[in-house]
Amino acid sequence: MRILIIGGYGTVGGTATKALSERHEVIVAGRTRGDVQVDIADIDSIRAMYDAVPNLDAVVCAAGAVKWDTFDNLQQDDFYVGFRSKLMGQVNLVRVGQDRLNDGGSFTLTTGILGERPVPMTTSAAMVNGAIHSFVKAVTLEIRRNLRVNVVAPGLLEDSAPKLGKFFPGQTPVAMDKVGAAYASAVEGTMTGELIRVYE
Ligand SMILES: NC(=O)c1ccc[n+]([C@@H]2O[C@H](COP(=O)([O-])OP(=O)(O)OC[C@H]3O[C@@H](n4cnc5c(N)ncnc54)[C@H](OP(=O)(O)O)[C@@H]3O)[C@@H](O)[C@H]2O)c1
Repeated sequence: MRILIIGGYGTVGGTATKALSERHEVIVAGRTRGDVQVDIADIDSIRAMYDAVPNLDAVVCAAGAVKWDTFDNLQQDDFYVGFRSKLMGQVNLVRVGQDRLNDGGSFTLTTGILGERPVPMTTSAAMVNGAIHSFVKAVTLEIRRNLRVNVVAPGLLEDSAPKLGKFFPGQTPVAMDKVGAAYASAVEGTMTGELIRVYE
């Protein structure tokens, strides 16, 4: 398969790149690094990325910003950061991509454990994840050409634990290989509309 991984050099995306590049042609996109540059918050940039990388069998997205802060501090514009980037960025990858991928291709999006198990400071992050979960369920009812759409929701990754572990007291970080295997199962399997939880 020819697979585009957006954020494929990041912490989460790197697990997908490692798992899938053993068996497939992998092209990495990122905002500043990678074979192709894209800003998923900008739909014209998404269109240009698909123009630059035709003939794709699968798109994995492990990119997207969201603002963390207390509910009292988060202003409307802070919520819009996650809305424009992680939420609409991934929705637009599917909207534009449904006319670009090869028949029977797949999209694998990324959310995180916060969609179901939020911690303090994550009203925006949790909300965005939940919205993506609902989008994935609904879009599979209408998407054309047997395209599949799934979402991987990782818990805190082992490599992120030194920086972010303090926000997840009592949680055991998830092994990097387990997260990579979840992306591989979504891309190489036949599932669609699935929320693939990798919480432990
Ligand atoms: N780390 C965790 O433990 C964890 C757990 C659960 C969920 N998540 C979620 O997984 C996603 C990735 O997190 P991460 O920890 O892997 O972050 P990361 O290490 O900072 O990597 C993010 C990657 O995405 C790219 N990127 C960022 N914004 C982009 C944009 N607007 N357009 C295109 N590419 C963009 C970056 O490219 P450049 O480097 O070129 O800028 C980078 O390659 C986030 O949505 C996060 O909430 C993370």
